[in-house]
Amino acid sequence: MTQTPSLRGVAETPYEREPGYAERYRDRRFCSGTGPRTDQRERAILRALLSHAAALGRLGPGDWLDVPAGAGRMSAELPGPVVAVDRDVAMLRAAADLPRRACGSAHALPFRDGAFAGVLCHRLLQHIPSAGERIAILRELARVGRGPVIVSFFDSRSLPGLRRVVRRWLGKRRSGRSTVRRAAFLAECRQAGLRPLAVRSLCRFVSEQTLVLCAPIDGA
Ligand SMILES: C[S@@+](CC[C@H](N)C(=O)[O-])C[C@H]1O[C@@H](n2cnc3c(N)ncnc32)[C@H](O)[C@@H]1O
Repeated sequence: MTQTPSLRGVAETPYEREPGYAERYRDRRFCSGTGPRTDQRERAILRALLSHAAALGRLGPGDWLDVPAGAGRMSAELPGPVVAVDRDVAMLRAAADLPRRACGSAHALPFRDGAFAGVLCHRLLQHIPSAGERIAILRELARVGRGPVIVSFFDSRSLPGLRRVVRRWLGKRRSGRSTVRRAAFLAECRQAGLRPLAVRSLCRFVSEQTLVLCAPIDGA
């Protein structure tokens, strides 16, 4: 795996996929097997976290950033006009329904400080193997958001997390996904200037997919 140096000095983990992947991700990834149920539960959790943010008085007016937007699966769930950002042009092309799209990396977002009323970073951090790189990305999300920042990660304390460890022991091919313990991930958020306000798992210990609602720490 070749890493690309980012503008901020932390090497970026690549995300290389075969031609046609973007259309397949958009049209098929969440349409068969457990996909539709995962999709439904992820949306339900995102809505629950947004309601929680509203109840705390943390939802203000303005644009939302969806990064990485992929093919825009979660964009319509966000409570404001969305700017969709992804590093992969093919993904942005597949998200043709979204009016405002920009190609860019979560490491160095082309936006001013506090530009967004809220930020969603869904299904990126499980592809990032090191705490240092995750913190660099989280810091960038905190910089451009002035309201809620919602991020997902894969919790290592889960059945799929355990399966990944066993596969590693058995020398099987690695999936390219990385897991982290919940407490360690929340510490990474704090280190990046984000205060975790609520954590929701798709199904604690059974699913690894977990979403965290954060708020920027003032003056961080
Ligand atoms: C699994 S998709 C998730 C898309 C969408 N958020 C969803 O939940 O369906 C991961 C996306 O991350 C993008 N990506 C990977 N590294 C990135 C980076 N450093 N900055 C922006 N996008 C990145 C990939 O191009 C891909 O579209």
